[in-house]
Amino acid sequence: VVQEMANFTPEMSKIEGTPLLKGICDIWDTIYNFQARDGDIVVVSYPKSGTTWMQEILDLIVQDGDVEKSLRAPGFIRVPCLEMGHTSLAVANSMPYPRVLKTHLPVHLMPPSFWEKDVKIVYIARNPKDCMVSYYYFHKMDQSMADPGSWDNFFSMFLAGDVNWGSWFDHVVGWWQAKDKHKVLYVFYEDMIEDSRREIRKVMTFLGKDFSEDIIQKILLYTSFESMKDNSMANFGTLPETVLDQSVSSFMRKGIVGDWKNHFLESQNIVFDEEYQKKMAGSGLVFRNEL
Ligand code: A3P
Repeated sequence: VVQEMANFTPEMSKIEGTPLLKGICDIWDTIYNFQARDGDIVVVSYPKSGTTWMQEILDLIVQDGDVEKSLRAPGFIRVPCLEMGHTSLAVANSMPYPRVLKTHLPVHLMPPSFWEKDVKIVYIARNPKDCMVSYYYFHKMDQSMADPGSWDNFFSMFLAGDVNWGSWFDHVVGWWQAKDKHKVLYVFYEDMIEDSRREIRKVMTFLGKDFSEDIIQKILLYTSFESMKDNSMANFGTLPETVLDQSVSSFMRKGIVGDWKNHFLESQNIVFDEEYQKKMAGSGLVFRNEL
């Protein structure tokens, strides 16, 4: 899997109008024909929305809070990503029930078998301003992402949806609508920061589990920012610098709400808010840019 990750280059191509890494487009038929199974659990998100946090929570819930078991392998093996190449898909295909899978695909690109099987999806969404900042740093450190250039340059790219996995706006709205037709639990990063215990309980109930307070407490502690920052099985610390250069920026970077205020110029904020109003009006979605 690591070798395959190392082979991804920053070139982008498009599938049905959505920009994706060329390496993903090249194997698109295989991804789109992936066979979901009854009982599959999938964490879905726009990149940099708290996917890794949620995936650790999901794995621990499935393992009934057994921390030892969640240390059995790096996150990208325990929770394989549908887009990360043939090997990642092979890992997914060989996993025992129940599988936890990950994808950043927008709803219209989801492999159709996920709609045919009895699958539970946890969608994690983050306010776009913090998401943009986090994605900017990720572009700097992830060697398969194009150089983001200046902050100003990346700001325009993100707003135009001209980044991998496409427009944040289309992504969050598309999945918001999907929750009315499918088993999708829609969770907000800001809610998780505000009250992780409450949100973990929600996810636990969605997955049909009912743990004691002790186990919930364990999951809470183990998936805290500080614990995950120290855990190489959760923070991508096992990846070589040629894939993810954490000397440029740590994967577990800040983990807060409102870091955008340290990056957005006043003028950018005005432009952003205008665009947000246009794109999100009538969506019914409410994001919190601060707590
Ligand atoms: P920052 O770059 O703002 O710090 P993803 O997993 O979707 O790539 O998202 C990564 C973002 O989630 C990073 O945001 C990271 O720090 C944050 N994150 C990961 N684990 C977290 C946790 N346990 N608590 C809070 N934030 C977390």
